[in-house]
Amino acid sequence: PESITVAELAKRMGEKSADLVKSLFNMGMMVTINQNVDQDTAELLVNEFGHTVQRVSESDVDIDTSEDVDAEDTLKPRPPVVTIMGHVDHGKTSLLDAIRGADVAGHEAGGITQHIGAYQVTPKGGDPITFLDTPGHEAFTEMRARGANITDVAILVVAADDGLKPQTVEAINHIKAAEVPMIVAINKIDKDGANAQKVREELLQHEIIVEAMSGEVQDVEVSALKKTGIDKLLEAINLQAELLELKANPDRNADATVVEAKLDKGRGPVATVLVQRGTLKVGDTFVAGPAAGKVRALVDDHGKRVKEAGPAFPVEVLGLSSLPSAGDPFTVVENDQRAREVADYRQRKLDEKRTTSAPMSLDAMFAKKG
Ligand code: GTP
Ligand code: MG
Repeated sequence: PESITVAELAKRMGEKSADLVKSLFNMGMMVTINQNVDQDTAELLVNEFGHTVQRVSESDVDIDTSEDVDAEDTLKPRPPVVTIMGHVDHGKTSLLDAIRGADVAGHEAGGITQHIGAYQVTPKGGDPITFLDTPGHEAFTEMRARGANITDVAILVVAADDGLKPQTVEAINHIKAAEVPMIVAINKIDKDGANAQKVREELLQHEIIVEAMSGEVQDVEVSALKKTGIDKLLEAINLQAELLELKANPDRNADATVVEAKLDKGRGPVATVLVQRGTLKVGDTFVAGPAAGKVRALVDDHGKRVKEAGPAFPVEVLGLSSLPSAGDPFTVVENDQRAREVADYRQRKLDEKRTTSAPMSLDAMFAKKG
């Protein structure tokens, strides 16, 4: 049974709660403004006040980009988005650091690399690669659970002196479930007791046959500490990306995904987003989960202000009304009103999830008319 509080219904109708309560009293119902009325009663009230009931389906209010597919001839190559996964202490963070050190573009810019939840690296002689700086499986799983499958390639890190561990197996399962191609980075190859071959054999038990074992999964021996094998790993990623033929239309309003969001003391709510298609520009109006806004500034992973960000380009966005969550869709819309409408709708849905005991409500079923 769907229901709505008298107060909420009044708000949506643009009437006073007290008038609704009076009207209900005249119908023989004693309710306070915080009590729920069922759908039939709500409809009666709406008619009583001379409004029309408009049933609005969710898809009419919220944004559904799934049917908005870009034509083949608008697609251009884009960088791959890579996530690093593996057991605790096997070297995910060290590897990300070593990779960041191999970024020629970063050194050219001479800027200090910022921690913005994602960054792009252009290896010497290679194409740019975007890394999601989200160590730990929760972020990956959480994003996937929310329908944000933004990873194109997964790097499975296994320490050569430790072999496969429970979280390695967990990572393997997540990667398989996401149907994302995998590259195995056998790390800590510099250590005494490192045994890369043992890692390859253990992987066989999970149906992962690496190239060194005549399989198809690329495996690279690395030392994040000594920074060896990093170029090979980046090459492997570029090779894998080529096979995937990743493309997106850069010439349209941006669709992006929130990777991280935080409240910054000086700058207010800041979200790191990864553009999936289109080009995000300063001045664009957007909705990000339950937040709306206008892009006040875009900051890249070197802390540099940029005017726009294309597909697979991670940027910090300033100008949000509130904080979205990781995995929330970030969509550029035509105007402020549309952004507000969608953001309010999503916020209401979130509030309901948090507060109502009723299994469902009339939210979005009534729209104020006349
Ligand atoms: P969590 O984030 O805690 O899951 O760990 P992590 O996977 O990010 O590992 P991290 O990069 O923090 O490395 C764990 C430890 O292993 C640190 O003490 C690193 O210095 C060390 N380490 C990482 N890579 C290497 C390597 O290639 N060789 C050696 N000898 N030590 C390494
Ligand atoms: Mg770490």
